[in-house]
Amino acid sequence: MFRKKLWRLGIFSLAITLTLAWLGTVCVIGSVTPQNRSVNPLVVFEQAKAEDYTSDGACVTCHQAYAQSFEKSPHSLYSSNPKEPYDRQGCQSCHGPGKAHVEDREQAAKSGKDVLGLSKMKSKDASAVCLRCHTDTMKSTQWHRTAHARADLSCNSCHSVHLGVEHENETAAEKAKIKDAVKIINGFANVARPEPNKMLLASEALLCGKCHKKELSEFRHNFRHPLPEGRIVCSDCHDVHPVRAEQTRVSPNKSACITCHADIAGPFVFEHDPVNSTLGDGCNDCHRPHGSHNPALLTTASRGLCGQCHTEQSNTHFPGQSCWNTGCHVAVHGSNTDRKLLRR
Ligand code: HEC
Ligand code: HEC
Ligand code: HEC
Ligand code: HEC
Ligand code: HEC
Ligand code: HEC
Ligand code: HEC
Ligand code: HEC
Ligand code: HEC
Repeated sequence: MFRKKLWRLGIFSLAITLTLAWLGTVCVIGSVTPQNRSVNPLVVFEQAKAEDYTSDGACVTCHQAYAQSFEKSPHSLYSSNPKEPYDRQGCQSCHGPGKAHVEDREQAAKSGKDVLGLSKMKSKDASAVCLRCHTDTMKSTQWHRTAHARADLSCNSCHSVHLGVEHENETAAEKAKIKDAVKIINGFANVARPEPNKMLLASEALLCGKCHKKELSEFRHNFRHPLPEGRIVCSDCHDVHPVRAEQTRVSPNKSACITCHADIAGPFVFEHDPVNSTLGDGCNDCHRPHGSHNPALLTTASRGLCGQCHTEQSNTHFPGQSCWNTGCHVAVHGSNTDRKLLRR
């Protein structure tokens, strides 16, 4: 009788011990594999040996949708070159050595040798995977200085290697944002998605616009750049991947405008300081780049536009409607014949 009780107690305590042990393991696993786990991919690639890689054939059998979408990516052609080193070939050029994952997924996860799950990684680590190869587009240090990197975006906030699958995986919130952007530019042609160009998740108007609604809305004004029609895109003026030489185009100034409006910038015999100068806001002193209520995208349609700098020209100078559309200073951007900008 007593022995039976003791035996029961034994089972009971064993059960408790096991439960505690199990809870412990769960906690430990939980703490090493949270969302946004931090893995330095550069270290993973550096430490990998040739025998840690396997053939891509294995990946394809279990991840068909991802393999199919990858096949359509511009990477596919390049990374099937057998002459390239292992870490530049196929799936494993981004997801890291995969042999352990193929052989025993759970064991691989436990020993920290699992493939790199890019959507679960921290943004800066996920971007580091791409920048291993894309230093021609932008150096890592240049990327980290951008407003986007500082706002915790990664390359994959705009690009996707697995386009089709990603659209299926999109959350309802993400879909709603795109819908909002579509609404903003509703009624215009040429904004269909997806637009596989440069592996972007959507056409630029919608992609950029879903996060920058205010700026997108400015393209609805009566006078605007023809962005909804697809004749100009955000990146014509904004450099998403600034390199040192083009640093100024992040928040664009004159140099962004004159690629298309070369005639405006002269050189003229008689330059107009704000147009010509490298100081100030250049074209933005007088124009709203996205769109405006005023003709010619002007910030103000009245003499106040000129008055903001030429305060000495009081109302008595010429009390007309404006300084240019009355036939006076018609050469606002500069003139080859007249110092007072009265003739072109
Ligand atoms: C035997 C089937 C199988 C093979 C072969 C296989 N995987 Fe997986 N893989 C899985 C399963 C199952 C998961 C877990 C899926 C989940 O959690 O939804 C997974 C997860 C992943 C993940 C996400 C990991 C994470 O942490 O989020 C990536 C990336 C991945 N596999 C890539 C690969 C690559 C690359 C290869 C080839 C080297 C490969 N897989 C081969 C079955 C496989
Ligand atoms: C050029 C880099 C790159 C290559 C090459 C690549 N992938 Fe991916 N993969 C990604 C990125 C980035 C994600 C995260 C989702 C996204 O943003 O598209 C991802 C997501 C995945 C996922 C879902 C798990 C996760 O991390 O979100 C699987 C599974 C996967 N890839 C398998 C593969 C397979 C199989 C191949 C080869 C046929 C492959 N990938 C080739 C970059 C790559
Ligand atoms: C193993 C090297 C390698 C890695 C890693 C890599 N790429 Fe690429 N990528 C290339 C090559 C090579 C090309 C094709 C030649 C080129 O355009 O430079 C390319 C092309 C591209 C293009 C241009 C596509 C086009 O239509 O012209 C984009 C965008 C791109 N990659 C984004 C990414 C992103 C995002 C990642 C990270 C998820 C990534 N790449 C990871 C090598 C790589
Ligand atoms: C805010 C959105 C956004 C982010 C974030 C972003 N890109 Fe891009 N990317 C674009 C757009 C838009 C284009 C096409 C226009 C252009 O070339 O500037 C592009 C083009 C590219 C191209 C092809 C053109 C080229 O320069 O060779 C590559 C490669 C590329 N991106 C890589 C990357 C990498 C690597 C990262 C992360 C470090 C990244 N991108 C982050 C929006 C983005
Ligand atoms: C996922 C959301 C998201 C997407 C997509 C996105 N942006 Fe941004 N962008 C941000 C955030 C967040 C900031 C930083 C905070 C701010 O200035 O609003 C930012 C900042 C900027 C800035 C200010 C830069 C500076 O240095 O101050 C510009 C310009 C910009 N984005 C343009 C673009 C363009 C062009 C695209 C499309 C190619 C784009 N963004 C796509 C979220 C996004
Ligand atoms: C015609 C050139 C042009 C186009 C096209 C353009 N932008 Fe701009 N954008 C500018 C200029 C110039 C500024 C700076 C305005 C200023 O300083 O007053 C600016 C400012 C911005 C800012 C604020 C930056 C800051 O420093 O606060 C954001 C965000 C932005 N643009 C996003 C976009 C998005 C998103 C698109 C596409 C839907 C786009 N832009 C298209 C020229 C352009
Ligand atoms: C990618 C080429 C491109 C760039 C870059 C560009 N524009 Fe334009 N711009 C256009 C086009 C196209 C139109 C519309 C012309 C039309 O409808 O015939 C236009 C129209 C204009 C107009 C109105 C013209 C009118 O007759 O009313 C102004 C003002 C203007 N742009 C100023 C700028 C400024 C300022 C910048 C720099 C922030 C800039 N543009 C950058 C292509 C560009
Ligand atoms: C001092 C103010 C001012 C500055 C600075 C300025 N503009 Fe203008 N711009 C005007 C005015 C005023 C008009 C309207 C002229 C008219 O209606 O005859 C105009 C008209 C335009 C037009 C349409 C008509 C035309 O002449 O083709 C374009 C395009 C344009 N500007 C581009 C630019 C660009 C690009 C820059 C920078 C290099 C710039 N502007 C700088 C005041 C300015
Ligand atoms: C951002 C400031 C700024 C704005 C806005 C501006 N100007 Fe000027 N303007 C200058 C500067 C600086 C000079 C050269 C110094 C000077 O002579 O005052 C100049 C010179 C001139 C001259 C030549 C004066 C002379 O005696 O040589 C004329 C004419 C002129 N501006 C007309 C205009 C008109 C018309 C407008 C409105 C469409 C305008 N400006 C808007 C800054 C501006």
